[in-house]
Amino acid sequence: MNIELASVPAAQVAADALLVWAYEQEAPAEGSLAPLDQATGGRLRELAAAGELRGKWLEQLLLHFPPGLAARRLAVLGAGRRDRFTTAELRRLAGAAARWLKPRNIRHLALLLREGFDDPAAVQAAVEGLLLGDFEPDRYRTADEPRPALESVTLLAPATAAHRAALERGRIVAEAQNWARELGNEPSNLLTPRALAERAAAMAGQYGLQAEIFDERRIEELGMGALLGVARGSAEPPRFILLRYDPPGAPADGPVFGLVGKAITFDTGGISIKPAKGMEKMKYDMAGGAAMLAVLRAVAALKPPVRVRALVPATENMPGGRAQKPGDIVRSLEGKTIEVLNTDAEGRLILADALSYARRIGCTHLVDAATLTGAIVVALSTVNVGVFGSDAALVERFLDCARAAGEKMWPMPVDDDYRDMMRGRFADLQNISSGEGGGACTAAAFLREFTGDCPWIHLDIAGTAWLDDARPWMAHGATGVGVRTLTEFLLRQAQAASGGNAVQHHP
Ligand code: BES
Ligand code: MN
Ligand code: ZN
Repeated sequence: MNIELASVPAAQVAADALLVWAYEQEAPAEGSLAPLDQATGGRLRELAAAGELRGKWLEQLLLHFPPGLAARRLAVLGAGRRDRFTTAELRRLAGAAARWLKPRNIRHLALLLREGFDDPAAVQAAVEGLLLGDFEPDRYRTADEPRPALESVTLLAPATAAHRAALERGRIVAEAQNWARELGNEPSNLLTPRALAERAAAMAGQYGLQAEIFDERRIEELGMGALLGVARGSAEPPRFILLRYDPPGAPADGPVFGLVGKAITFDTGGISIKPAKGMEKMKYDMAGGAAMLAVLRAVAALKPPVRVRALVPATENMPGGRAQKPGDIVRSLEGKTIEVLNTDAEGRLILADALSYARRIGCTHLVDAATLTGAIVVALSTVNVGVFGSDAALVERFLDCARAAGEKMWPMPVDDDYRDMMRGRFADLQNISSGEGGGACTAAAFLREFTGDCPWIHLDIAGTAWLDDARPWMAHGATGVGVRTLTEFLLRQAQAASGGNAVQHHP
């Protein structure tokens, strides 16, 4: 999809459709709708009077051959209440527009960025929404007719350098997120740990990142016993993926961010096997890993002056004659021993070794993302990412980034009491809690044991990394959640670390 900026009057844009949004209880004779109402001889006021244009959230109105406009259709999407409309709603509205209009034979769309939403942040949100909405999980569907596609979108907004940079930023971030979605939708027979490592290395080559892939021998030499324990049951060997982004402009004594992502390419549960119903979804148990790889792709293109690593332990979790069994004790890279009471609590095991390794290679700040627990779905449903952390101020800044990026996240507790519930009876730790409830919190507390003194944030994305059914602005399947917030977070951290407006932009 080609996206460009143009500052021309909306009535004069030639396009298959001109899209505008309308607020609830808005008089169409006011604001930036007024010129369109005038040009069409009062059509908008008439439609409003007839109750067909009420501005309700995502209410659709498609007007063919509107008189007085150069566009062949006028498409109006309801935006809901003006006082509740932010760039987060704009992003979703743009996605909903793409998904609404694409199958209606519209190739060239013009989108009017209305008053108050024509700044660079709005441009970025609109671009992200359009590209995310356009994505379809149809890679393996053979079709007899060509799939409809939006070829180009003209954003009607000022075309300053800052707006153009925002457009480019939106494209980079959304394409990275779509890449994470692509990976999340891949079935486990095609996206094995080895295949994921190959995809990561190929991306790294394209984007100028350093990549190291550890095979099972190297993983064993290093002593990642917790990761190896999970991998034992599988005929597919594990991989440990390490990507490095080292920009020349980063201060030598500055922070090094370690992004750790869970990549279970398929989670059967192992010997503590899962029920059959819905098990096919466990191909997305690598969504945290995919998100971290995608963030590295985005930062490699955006070039903020801050050092970042992605650490992605990748394995299947399978039952089998060699699989680890309940009661087995493994020795983690850190040296801490873990009693595996439930082989389905495997994410924390592979993350433990990855968090330790991140510290060993000099990461000063840790963020992990993982489809870690069903308990987070109980707590927050499919609505919010659960955000845990050891540094309240860092969590607060992170949540600010989530709001800016339009990803819903909510803070969760990691009191020491939860760690006490993870104390082992035969080893240092056990991998499931000995208490009642709080499964997302006890899992987080387990991870914290491997973060040393590093400020650390943990994202439990089990509920948010997958959509069973499409939303108006996004197709079903993997969502790529986390990519936008993490990218925003790193851009801001770079700015803070280099003391000012040092975020460089990639041409
Ligand atoms: N991958 C699952 C968590 C999950 C659940 C992801 C639902 C997406 C949707 C994880 O490995 C798991 O199985 N967790 C167990 C832990 C339990 C055995 C302590 C769970 O949450 O049931
Ligand atoms: Mn599991
Ligand atoms: Zn899992």
